[in-house]
Amino acid sequence: MDRLQWFKRAGYGLFVHFGLYAMLGGVYKGTPSPRNAEWIMRHLRIPVAEYKKLAETFDPALLDPDDIVRRAKAWGMQYVVVTAKHHDGFALYDSRVSDYNVMHTPYGKDIIKAFADACAREGMPFGIYYSQMQDWEHPDGNGNTWDFDPTEQDFSRYFYGKCLPQVKELLTGYGDLCLLWFDTPYDMPKPLCEELAATVKALQPDCLINGRIGYGLGDYRQMADNSIPRNVYDGAFEVPMTLNRSWGYSTLDTGWATPGDVIRNLVQIRGRGGNLLLNIGPDGCGNVPKASTDVLDAVGAWLEKNGESIFDTDPFPDFPYINRWGDVTYRKESNTLYLHILKYPAIHPRISLLALASKVKEVRLLQGGTPLAFAQAYDLAREEHRLSVTVPQEEPDAVDTVVAVALADAPRVQEL
Ligand code: GLC
Repeated sequence: MDRLQWFKRAGYGLFVHFGLYAMLGGVYKGTPSPRNAEWIMRHLRIPVAEYKKLAETFDPALLDPDDIVRRAKAWGMQYVVVTAKHHDGFALYDSRVSDYNVMHTPYGKDIIKAFADACAREGMPFGIYYSQMQDWEHPDGNGNTWDFDPTEQDFSRYFYGKCLPQVKELLTGYGDLCLLWFDTPYDMPKPLCEELAATVKALQPDCLINGRIGYGLGDYRQMADNSIPRNVYDGAFEVPMTLNRSWGYSTLDTGWATPGDVIRNLVQIRGRGGNLLLNIGPDGCGNVPKASTDVLDAVGAWLEKNGESIFDTDPFPDFPYINRWGDVTYRKESNTLYLHILKYPAIHPRISLLALASKVKEVRLLQGGTPLAFAQAYDLAREEHRLSVTVPQEEPDAVDTVVAVALADAPRVQEL
């Protein structure tokens, strides 16, 4: 299958942010990082010489890429993306281009290789994150204004000396990559972005490039972090999301999403035609915080029973009203709409969907297949269609009860 077609239907992926910053957990010498833990070096303007010392004791003995990939599979995820080099410039793989990498730490093992091999074993598509513009370690990289004088910087020295050769290493040493995930392109000169994109395609023609390469050169649109589009977006897209508010491991941020939050996000993103790339940030020992795996376990259990309403689904025309009970997804193949009841009615167990102009054939609970009574009406005075479905008194699924609505004809939605 065409890679982009695969991507559009994949729906749900795992993002892994890992690097030296994980050792700090968002706090440096008693000072907390004001925002994302993986940005601590920049936020606190930690000198390169200081920050680099972390590499001397970097030894995430508990990191288990096999286990993470196996879990990702059990969680229902369809691809895995790992940070090979984040903005701090430290490479998690064996790079001949720069010694600032994992091989020169007590750990001494290529983490990207371990993930690539684990993914290959599990048949899991593997993608790599690479920060192409920001590099706070390289004197000519973008972002570090406290060690280096920006007026003396020559970005092309960094681009040809580190970025491009490292991206080549990643494209040639880690098997088939489903995608390369670039980030924060800022004002990187267009010709360099084009060269980067051309290099990816020359080495791996089927490797997708995300939108954050800039200048519309990506194969799919990368929505802003944690930002779900309000309407259906025509074209492939992905929403990267955190489970708390930091990508890198943070000891400070305990504001975890609930399984219901994740399922709601997944439903909304799938309903609008995109993928959710959901992040975990292992700690400095390589351990994935239990608070995040607990949520992913619960979402995975729900997906196992309700995956039909999430995977291989297609966008449906936008409904004009926001439904207070939840949101919808749609599967073209079976011409079925899925109503996701995220807020179950406490009394009067009935939900309505306004403005559905298609004729409904049959309505059932997705789990168990119990047929549900329904009625379609057209309100003459309001000129509005209404589908009402009677749902069981007792809430079948505390997080999200899915109602499958089989349509008898083409999907049609009224406008306001
Ligand atoms: C951001 C941040 C970064 C994170 C990324 C994930 O732009 O700079 O730390 O890796 O988004 O989407």
